Amino acid sequence: MRNHDLTFLKHFSQMIAGLAVLTVVLIIFANWIYWQQPTDPNPAAEAATDARIAPLSGVYAGDTGAAAMAAAAEEARKAAASQVAYGGTLDGSEIYGQLCSTCHNTGAGGAPTLDRAHWDARVAQGIDTLIKHAEEGFQGDAGLMPARGGNPALSDEQVEATVRWMVDNLK
Ligand code: HEC
Repeated sequence: MRNHDLTFLKHFSQMIAGLAVLTVVLIIFANWIYWQQPTDPNPAAEAATDARIAPLSGVYAGDTGAAAMAAAAEEARKAAASQVAYGGTLDGSEIYGQLCSTCHNTGAGGAPTLDRAHWDARVAQGIDTLIKHAEEGFQGDAGLMPARGGNPALSDEQVEATVRWMVDNLK
């Protein structure tokens, strides 16, 4: 009887010990799997790091830097200004064909077509007046000439080239 109890106790404690070892092995294994996974950075910790390494004040580039910035702004302004109508062409016939012809070929709204009968009196005012009227717009007896033919993107040089082309091409 006594021997049977001892045998049982021995086997039972061996089994408990074996299970305890298995538990530890599984815990280590689970931890190992966990650490294999990539972890997302903690946004709060990242923000704190950024705040710690931020410079105390902005960089002052000195007068040279300010001049460079002014030059860059000027460049940008020039680039924007060069975005003029019809690719900036100074070809009067091109601009006339794209814009002015809608009125001046048909006589729409009283626009003088390109024949001398319509233009002799106008040309007599002098080319400068014609250019000025085309740039600023002109209300005459015949009708309303809109400033720059209605396209404010046209430059002074483009309007002038077009008026000169019109006057040179009267029939
Ligand atoms: C919406 C129609 C219209 C468009 C577009 C138009 N014109 Fe005119 N234009 C007129 C009318 C109308 C007159 C006549 C005004 C008057 O004398 O009563 C006129 C007159 C003129 C005159 C004569 C001004 C004067 O003093 O007698 C010139 C120069 C002229 N246009 C140039 C142009 C040029 C250059 C363009 C294109 C950039 C253009 N026009 C586009 C309607 C137009």
